[in-house]
Amino acid sequence: MVKINLKTLKIRAQKEIEKTGTPEGLNEVFNKYLGTGKGELTLVLRSLGKLSKAEKVKIGREVNDLKKILRIQFDQKEKSLKEKLHKEVEEREWIDVSAPGKKPLFGHLHPLTITGRKVEEIFQGMGFSVIEGPEMESEWYNFDALNIPKDHPARDQWDTFYLRNGLLLRTHTSPNQVRYMEKNQPPLRIIVPGTCYRHEATDASHESQLFQIEGLMVDKKISAANFKATVGEFFRRFFGKDVSFRLRPDFFPFTEPSFDISISCVVCGGKGCSACKETGWMEVAGAGMVHPNVFKNSGLNPKDWQGWAFGFGLERLTMLKYKIDDIRLFRSGDLRFLQQF
Ligand code: FA5
Repeated sequence: MVKINLKTLKIRAQKEIEKTGTPEGLNEVFNKYLGTGKGELTLVLRSLGKLSKAEKVKIGREVNDLKKILRIQFDQKEKSLKEKLHKEVEEREWIDVSAPGKKPLFGHLHPLTITGRKVEEIFQGMGFSVIEGPEMESEWYNFDALNIPKDHPARDQWDTFYLRNGLLLRTHTSPNQVRYMEKNQPPLRIIVPGTCYRHEATDASHESQLFQIEGLMVDKKISAANFKATVGEFFRRFFGKDVSFRLRPDFFPFTEPSFDISISCVVCGGKGCSACKETGWMEVAGAGMVHPNVFKNSGLNPKDWQGWAFGFGLERLTMLKYKIDDIRLFRSGDLRFLQQF
């Protein structure tokens, strides 16, 4: 018979059961002592054959009693391990259904889109049509047709990116004055929103990619007074209040006379800041009365028609509306900035 002290086996088995922390570990301990193949107590029972009948009965009973005790302990341990596991899972997966929900992150419109739509809405309300033109433009429409021949110094001011296909990235939306008048007989009132490009260094109020809104009004008797009234009304509706603006003489080859439009800088309240280059005024548009040569290049007789045109910088308008002090923020992709709109 396997010589074994059942008392020490019992203590050993109980200690091991107690120590086990996982169902897999408990299974191993079970097989070690009670397993039908090589379990220590199974082996003891198998080895009783050579003993006397009385000894067989005595030891057999002791082994079976011990098996019963151990089985109960295994069951208890299994139960407590299952409970522990259940509790852990419950804790891990617990959901507080009464907790306030997290707001899902929604996309929203870019500030330039918001103001761009507002500008369109205002001009549409004043009878203007919104039209579009190509961003890849020919030299003719971007320069020559606008009275800026090849050797004209104004080309420097609107230096741009020339493409391999012979076209260029338009520097302003003004080419659409000619494009539209070629195909449409006045009287007319249009605005042309669109992206423009310039080969220039950036600063707080300049970018090499900018968004302009061209305006054009042509009729038999159109004067600068019409222009001033229209722009004043536009500012009132755009900013939701009266704002100070000024027209100063300027030069554009495609308008005569020409002026620039500046608004009292709302970023600094007119005191002077980096956005307005310490002047207290921010230039938002160039404008003027349509030059006779532009009418001619559009197939119209300048003796028959008069008109005014403007080119607003949408970034500048948006900076003034929301008191943004650096134009570079618009295309920076910085969510801390964008999430404020
Ligand atoms: C022009 O682009 C003319 N085509 C405007 C015009 C249209 C004049 C019709 C007469 C008749 P200018 O380069 O000044 O002009 O630009 C017009 C406006 O675009 C500026 O007042 C400014 O608001 C904006 N702008 C110009 N350059 C930049 C730039 N680099 N970054 C941001 N905004 C700019």
